[in-house]
Amino acid sequence: MVRTAPHTVEHLWRRACDAAITFRTGVVDRPAPPRQDYASSLRAFDAPLPASGTDPEEVVDDLVRLADAGLMTPTGARFFGWVIGGSHPAGVAADWLTSAWGQNAGNHQASPAASAAETVSARWLLELLDLPREASVGFVTGATMANFTALAAARGEVLRRVGWDVERDGLFGAPPVEVVIGAEAHTTVYAALQLLGLGRERVTRLPVDDQGRIVVGPAHEVLARLEEPAIVVLQAGHVNTGAFDDFAALVPAAAATGAWIHVDGAFGLWARACDETAGLTSGLEDADSWAVDGHKWLQTPYDSGFVVVRDERAHRQAMTISASYLPMSGDGDRDPSHYVPELSRRARGFATWTMIRTLGRDGIAAMVARHCAYARLIATTLQAEPGVAVLNEVDLNQVLVRFGDDRRDLDGDRLTRATIERIRADGVCFTGGAHWLGREVMRLSVIGFETDEGDAVRSAQAVLAAYRHVLESDGQPGS
Ligand SMILES: Cc1ncc(COP(=O)(O)O)c(C=O)c1O
Repeated sequence: MVRTAPHTVEHLWRRACDAAITFRTGVVDRPAPPRQDYASSLRAFDAPLPASGTDPEEVVDDLVRLADAGLMTPTGARFFGWVIGGSHPAGVAADWLTSAWGQNAGNHQASPAASAAETVSARWLLELLDLPREASVGFVTGATMANFTALAAARGEVLRRVGWDVERDGLFGAPPVEVVIGAEAHTTVYAALQLLGLGRERVTRLPVDDQGRIVVGPAHEVLARLEEPAIVVLQAGHVNTGAFDDFAALVPAAAATGAWIHVDGAFGLWARACDETAGLTSGLEDADSWAVDGHKWLQTPYDSGFVVVRDERAHRQAMTISASYLPMSGDGDRDPSHYVPELSRRARGFATWTMIRTLGRDGIAAMVARHCAYARLIATTLQAEPGVAVLNEVDLNQVLVRFGDDRRDLDGDRLTRATIERIRADGVCFTGGAHWLGREVMRLSVIGFETDEGDAVRSAQAVLAAYRHVLESDGQPGS
């Protein structure tokens, strides 16, 4: 008997569902960091290649048992480690259905419903983010592929304007494209340039200030010399500081050169959905393309990112895959695969549609405002402590902290590292680490929808308790 019996499906899915409910309803009380590290998780999963099959219920039980101790808690209330959203239960429900329905969202015939959900979500996203309504939207895995897709459209269009068809003829012999980029662009923008044959290092880097923002004066000098074909990459929301480039000053100067302007706004673009923060993004609406994540501030489950391109034709020309067995492009129906690198693909529109309906415009705005307020609250609490410095302007949801700021640099590095370790060992919250301006720092990203004011207060206290403990064991209490 090959066919799956209905009761097998039912038992299997109820088991998975029960395990998921147990995890999610208990996650708020879990210690924020995983109980075991990668090496232990690897030992737990490691086994010889299975020679024969196993009953799926047993496999799912094993999966739950083996994964549990190695699960991180971005779905909890006090996870601040990276800019990782909280996989809202409504989005997860839609994502389960997406998997259960097994829809291939490559084209509108393979799944009319999946294509329709994307079409409507795309329109909603343009309204929410207040981007040009005529722009096209691709539903990709995340901001990395959103950057890639936008820069592919940019590469095609700027070369087309000087008489070169890169989609047909490739880059060999093509006129060189100058790429101008802020020195603090996110690493995934460099990855996209690398994948597109534009070169990670073959770029003109614009100087930035101590927040990672492009400095306007020197940028204007570079832009004044810029000739076509050229691409300028700006940023809305630096991954450490949350800082925004000065779009009002930079976008017109770049546009005057005929360059394609791309904005990486993986999480920062969501500032446009909130009146309190929208001003930070003024002027970016005049760019040519934008990258933003659903799995960050929209709280969709992974993987979900959006690429928005003003020139729909350039977007399609860079991405369209055609074959005689696929629906013809240009018949008026929107095929999701025309705006993304893949053909067969997950129906990401269902979770996006569900999250926008669940939160609504007001809910998204309130969440962004709340997270920014908690970030300010945490920053104010931390910097009241002697020896603790907040290094960034907390305009958004990011807080960048240095411990032992009143000590020599290397002592500060050591105390910062030790405090992060201590915070993780205490388990109340999870914070990240990074290098900033040559020194070790702790970073907090307030982005999970479960976080409330009490969590922010409790986490700030836990951070201070960890620092005081580190100072005590360092033998130099107080300072
Ligand atoms: C500014 C910026 N760009 C790009 C990315 C990459 O996004 P993803 O990991 O979703 O591909 C991030 C991730 O945090 C980011 O902050």
